[in-house]
Amino acid sequence: MKKFTLLTVILLLFAAKGQARDNVLETRIEKAVRAMTLEEKASLLVGVWEEGGPSNIISSAGRTHAVERLGIGMTTMNDGPTGLRMDTLRKGYPDERYYCTGFPSACLLAATWDDDIVTRVGECIGDEMNAYGCDLLLAPSLNIQRNPLCGRNFEYYSEDPYLAGHTAARMVLGMQSRGVGATIKHFAVNSQQTARVANDARLSERALREIYLRNFEIAVRESDPVAVMSSLNWVNGTRSAASESLLTGVLRDEWGWKGVVMTDWFDPENTGACLRSGNDLFMGGNPRQVEDIIKGVGDGSIAMSDVDRNVRNVLRYIFRSPSQNGLEPTYAPDLASDAEVALEAAREGIVLLKNEGGALPLPEDGQVAVFGVSSYIWYANGTGSADVNKPHVVTLMDGLKSAGISVHPTVDEYYRSYLGSEQVQLRETNTNTWRNWFFGFKRPFEARLNPWFLDLRASDCSAAVVCISRNAGESLDRDYVKGDFLLTDEEESMIGAVCDAFHAKGKKVTVVLNMGSQIDVRPFKDKADAIVLAWQPGQEGGRAVADVLKGDVNPSGKLPATWALSYEDYPSSANFPVHYKFSWEDVKPYAPASTRHTRNLGYTLYEEDIWVGYRWFNTRHKEVVWPFGHGLSYTTFDWSDAKVAKKTADQVTVSVTVTNTGSRPGKDVVQLYSTAPRTEGFETPLRELRAYAKTPLLQPGQSAVMQLKVPLGDLASFHEDSRCWIAPSGTYTLSLASSVEDVRCTVDLTLKKLVTRPVKASLAAPVEPKPTAVVLGDSYSTFAEQIPEGYRCWYFTSPKEGNDVKEVRQTWWCQLCDSLGVDLVLNSSYGGSPVCNTGYHGADATSFSFVTRVEECIALHPDYLFVMGGINDSWAGVSVGELKYSDWTEEDLRSFLPAFCRMLDRIKAEIPDCKVINIVTTGLSGEIAEGQAQACRHYGIKCVSLHDISKGLGHPDAAGMKAICSQVLEAIR
Ligand code: BGC
Repeated sequence: MKKFTLLTVILLLFAAKGQARDNVLETRIEKAVRAMTLEEKASLLVGVWEEGGPSNIISSAGRTHAVERLGIGMTTMNDGPTGLRMDTLRKGYPDERYYCTGFPSACLLAATWDDDIVTRVGECIGDEMNAYGCDLLLAPSLNIQRNPLCGRNFEYYSEDPYLAGHTAARMVLGMQSRGVGATIKHFAVNSQQTARVANDARLSERALREIYLRNFEIAVRESDPVAVMSSLNWVNGTRSAASESLLTGVLRDEWGWKGVVMTDWFDPENTGACLRSGNDLFMGGNPRQVEDIIKGVGDGSIAMSDVDRNVRNVLRYIFRSPSQNGLEPTYAPDLASDAEVALEAAREGIVLLKNEGGALPLPEDGQVAVFGVSSYIWYANGTGSADVNKPHVVTLMDGLKSAGISVHPTVDEYYRSYLGSEQVQLRETNTNTWRNWFFGFKRPFEARLNPWFLDLRASDCSAAVVCISRNAGESLDRDYVKGDFLLTDEEESMIGAVCDAFHAKGKKVTVVLNMGSQIDVRPFKDKADAIVLAWQPGQEGGRAVADVLKGDVNPSGKLPATWALSYEDYPSSANFPVHYKFSWEDVKPYAPASTRHTRNLGYTLYEEDIWVGYRWFNTRHKEVVWPFGHGLSYTTFDWSDAKVAKKTADQVTVSVTVTNTGSRPGKDVVQLYSTAPRTEGFETPLRELRAYAKTPLLQPGQSAVMQLKVPLGDLASFHEDSRCWIAPSGTYTLSLASSVEDVRCTVDLTLKKLVTRPVKASLAAPVEPKPTAVVLGDSYSTFAEQIPEGYRCWYFTSPKEGNDVKEVRQTWWCQLCDSLGVDLVLNSSYGGSPVCNTGYHGADATSFSFVTRVEECIALHPDYLFVMGGINDSWAGVSVGELKYSDWTEEDLRSFLPAFCRMLDRIKAEIPDCKVINIVTTGLSGEIAEGQAQACRHYGIKCVSLHDISKGLGHPDAAGMKAICSQVLEAIR
């Protein structure tokens, strides 16, 4: 009792101290907000993207503005998910190099299923941040691995939201225990890289909440990260960075989180909408956004209270940051000890996928023949912002040698000389360009292997190891082609030939996979005796793989995602881009219309709904190659005595005894899946991961009692109709399993009462693809800066002219689209009317830009196409002499207006169902207009001549616009 009272007093004292500290902080924030001018507030909300970086670190990803007058200093942010990313140079120290540790990729960390090691990686990153003066890390990334081709899968954790969220939380806790901040990103639904700034993820609220927000919810609940980065993509028709329901409704109101939200590094089109939605900080930051904020407050479109709210959130982060609390960088992180943690993490996450006939560990005697260029050109992690400037990378070959594995020297020499000459040839391609930074360096093809050479090696070596690898990163997804998801012919024949030669001599072959997510393993999964998934295992990875191959480390990694039999089996494969040709245009904030309206580029339908990964395969009993959670060991484990150890009103603890029954020390992972009682009309997955735990290293014969805690609320599913999380009453099966398909024991849990949790934020339902109208022509250049959201508009290069209509919504095309309920694309910028041979400003209707615009319109498959402009002999550039337009035959049309005719031919052939209306707004009257109508009649196209309304060559006023709209509507009907 005495003890209890003392403990209570101590806890109360701590709480009071914390409260007092918070009060001081809040008072300081309020004081600063009162003292700041609007200009200072606006600049605080917009970051600086500075290549050169601040003085302490040579290259940061960004920083916040200082307000020196008020003693508010700048803070520094760096990527990223596999370690601290910065340049190796420091100002004033040209001869020194400053490195950071390259930790294993996120996919490997998730495969450890080990809270302790992930936390320790986070701690090391936090220490390195302090050493280099970085306040906030732009990591971890925890988006769902929805499809194996997503380019960023290596920096994401899992296809399962619990594993992703819980692993991210360990990283955050580790980092933040060192006083620095972590940023969980990219909020939300950032599971595709293709057209990453334009893509609208369209999904049900259930899928959003159960899969794509759940990971973030768990990370927020378990680790309270300092920051959240909103994603580049859109969700159900709203850009994430401008989604009030996501950023304020869900994140703050429902989850009670109080940190700072920043944009990803782009320049969203609508500063005001982002700011209002609760996106506090604009990163990397564009000075124009500062002006937008000042202007917005001036004209009342941005409320000062919203600015102040965001400023408070930013200041809360700044005032707590290490640099603002006097922490001086030492520039001397303990890289040697961090490398050991990187090595340990890699050892924990390597997955032994297959091991037949005791192929591994490698035989202790004899030499090993090592094949594959990937054994030398080894990927420690993926490309882009999650790549780290690390002091070294231990390749597979380096690792094998340093582990004392005897590698056959002739094979080694053969590869070294082959790679030497190949890399000379690639020297000109593999330079430091942005393209290579994003997509990685080119690598040589596989070396040819001579059958007699293989035959000799099969005789004089005791085993073979073959390595193949893949790389990927942000901005681009992988592709379903040979050399990416599929093996190249050379890889396939290399593995086949090595297996044939070695098997003929009774020797085993191990395939090592160095990659961040799945490939097609059909060509070799039955041939290879052992398959080891090394992932992209960080700078020490080669050592870790060698330890596993040699048997010094008993593998204990488990798959965080399913490996299906074929790509088509993945439920998202019906809705994911393949064979996409990269365009820099698509990564700009204003992607071309043709991108925005193309399925899987501009929008992606998440038709598989909640049935992502194992939820699909397991529930539908679909055969896979390796299920979620799978991973082999060199020893065996027995699981016994599973029971509900404790049950409180809101949590259940399940325990199970795990015993090492084999002959080697090893670790096992207990995975706990729940199966809900059946609810009529509402399907839930057969199993869903709710908790997991990794045993300590168990010696042969040794046991450990594992305890797994599940909050009862976590058993719930989201019911859209009642807008509530519901765990129905009844009996739940809690399966203790070694993979989602390998259940070792079960316990029943009965909920007497249903558990419910209503939600507050109303999330938009997926936007149904609306009919599309394209306006091809030049009637809106004056409105370039005021195009409202919902009207997609990309080409603004036309010159501005005066206009009597001051409000863009008054234009005939905005009004028209509102009446028709269509999504509008304005397609212009070729500088002229499409139907004449030469446009004004010298553009030629047969020119590249014109042809491109027409082709773009066709590619959009619009429901309506409004072609602006008309025939004008001065533009047509042909002399029609005495010939009256009204007398033109089709032949005349073709010879005098070839571009017009070609355009209409293409349109009729490609988009026959499209309603095409030719709109002649200005300048044309009488005979010319008649000729125009005649031309359209030949093509069965309606023509609206608006000369009378549109004041000749000038622009119509508001009333004129209204009249135009009703005439065009009439023509359509
Ligand atoms: C990436 C972010 C990263 C940022 C800063 C963006 O391209 O999407 O994940 O944090 O750049 O480097």
